[in-house]
Amino acid sequence: MSTLTVVDHPLAGHLLAELRDVRTPPERFRYLARRLATVLTLEATRDLGVRRERVTTPLREADAAFIDGRVVAVPILRAGLGMLDPVTDLLPDVSVGYVGLERDEATLQPTSYYLKVPELAGSPVLLLDPMLATGGSAAFAASLLKERGATDLRLVCVVAAPEGVERLAADHPEVRVVTASLDEGLDERGYIVPGLGDFGDRLFGTE
Ligand code: PRP
Ligand code: URA
Repeated sequence: MSTLTVVDHPLAGHLLAELRDVRTPPERFRYLARRLATVLTLEATRDLGVRRERVTTPLREADAAFIDGRVVAVPILRAGLGMLDPVTDLLPDVSVGYVGLERDEATLQPTSYYLKVPELAGSPVLLLDPMLATGGSAAFAASLLKERGATDLRLVCVVAAPEGVERLAADHPEVRVVTASLDEGLDERGYIVPGLGDFGDRLFGTE
């Protein structure tokens, strides 16, 4: 996996198209977010290590590959919560931590209000945040998780702005990013354009 992966799959494009649509109501938005997060998570976990064993089918023995080791998922509250269910569905043994960040509307600087994470050392860590805008939140979260031992961080996001990709690459060049779209840029309020608006508000019906 390279540092930035834009998932080029018609299903991802279809789901994102409906997420972008301003007419999509919260219930449908949550459904689409879960579906798209499933597609993105499959890509973000493509290179997980496997343990090879033999299993016995009803007919004979077969080679089998099991996921080897523990994966950790860390949604950035609150919008990242909309991506968590598909990750726990795909990876039933996943350990889950939480980072609470809020971006100041004027300065665009994130502040942290919550942090609870399991052991991170030695595990692939899926950092879940649908919007990579200025990159301040993702970079801050990556710093917090690295301070607590994370060495293999993968940001799973729905839409990324070039500014955010550059910021994250500058601060944390080893962090890989999987997204459904690299959009044009940011507007004067720090929103991704064309983007899909405020993901958290649309997810939780708080617009
Ligand atoms: C949004 C989004 C990211 C952040 C991206 O969260 O979910 O965490 O903004 O912006 P950045 O790349 O410029 O830092 P927000 O702070 O609005 O909080 P919310 O998830 O609670 O709505
Ligand atoms: N956060 C969002 O929810 N949307 C954006 O476009 C930028 C930050």
